[in-house]
Amino acid sequence: MTKILVTGASGLLGLNFALQHAAQHEITGVVNSQALHGAPFAVRGADLGLPGSGASLLEAERPEILLHCAAVANLEVAERDPALAQRVNADLPGELAEASRRLGVRMVHLSTDAVFDGTHGPYSEEDEPNPLSAYARSKRAGELAVLQANPRAIVARVNFYGWSLNGRRSLAEFFFNNLSAGKTANGWTDVFFCPLEVTELGNLLLEMAQKGLEGLYHVVSPECLSKFDFGRAVARAFGFDENLVLPTRVSESGLNAARSPDLRLSTTKLARDLGRGLPGQAECLGRFQRQHLEGYPQRLRSLAA
Ligand SMILES: NC(=O)c1ccc[n+]([C@@H]2O[C@H](COP(=O)([O-])OP(=O)(O)OC[C@H]3O[C@@H](n4cnc5c(N)ncnc54)[C@H](OP(=O)(O)O)[C@@H]3O)[C@@H](O)[C@H]2O)c1
Repeated sequence: MTKILVTGASGLLGLNFALQHAAQHEITGVVNSQALHGAPFAVRGADLGLPGSGASLLEAERPEILLHCAAVANLEVAERDPALAQRVNADLPGELAEASRRLGVRMVHLSTDAVFDGTHGPYSEEDEPNPLSAYARSKRAGELAVLQANPRAIVARVNFYGWSLNGRRSLAEFFFNNLSAGKTANGWTDVFFCPLEVTELGNLLLEMAQKGLEGLYHVVSPECLSKFDFGRAVARAFGFDENLVLPTRVSESGLNAARSPDLRLSTTKLARDLGRGLPGQAECLGRFQRQHLEGYPQRLRSLAA
């Protein structure tokens, strides 16, 4: 049993990770504005936007592993408030990395595929980032702050989907919610990514930490596709009419924060260092669909009641 501190435990990754591993490990989840009721792990509240709060938290908890998922992860919010994004996505991870080095805590920090401008994927860990949005710039600053303060930390560039607390957090839920109601849903044909199902991602992150991996990794699926094709794959997995997923282009979406078109990442380094293959799209969507059959989305949502 490992003592694991999970920040962002009300978020898509943090909550799924804490739920999946609560039986095997001693987990404390940190939440901010969103309370959790009846969670099978210890929950504590903290506004990590306050300078010094990250180091105090780590000193109080002294976990073996820190899974740092808390972030301003909404691109439009970061675009409107870049100072908040800088504090939460860059300064805080740096502070946690410094404290984790000092206290001997193995830190896993979450970054994003969006640090790249998306002009020529697939990108390896050696490729130079060029973030386009306030969110991506703050996440790139966070990567640098973590690796400088604690070179033994894992910095994982990710993209993922899954069932969430409010049922609306992930792209797969967007398609599921619309298609299950018989509504159409737009899918971008010109944006490519390599998403993992969130519990598959959580398992990989834990395995990486337990194996003692260090430094920068791309932790995505080796199978990449357009967001349009992903929407159609969600439709097929649940037996919905895939013609309800309509092809559109990102330029037609009217969003403020710039999106990178080609976010295919290479996973060669991770597969080599784990000594195994990584989950493909069918495996991930199969898991997402089975969770639905088992009532997992309702179980998640009951925690917000
Ligand atoms: N979702 C994706 O596909 C994706 C893609 C690339 C990278 N990432 C990265 O993966 C990580 C996890 O993302 P996610 O999608 O799980 O995030 P999320 O669902 O948006 O959740 C964000 C979490 O951060 C917490 N948080 C925000 N501000 C805080 C503060 N001031 N103090 C304490 N906690 C705070 C929130 O707590 P409350 O809700 O309680 O306020 C929430 O639990 C992030 O680093 C994100 O940048 C995500």
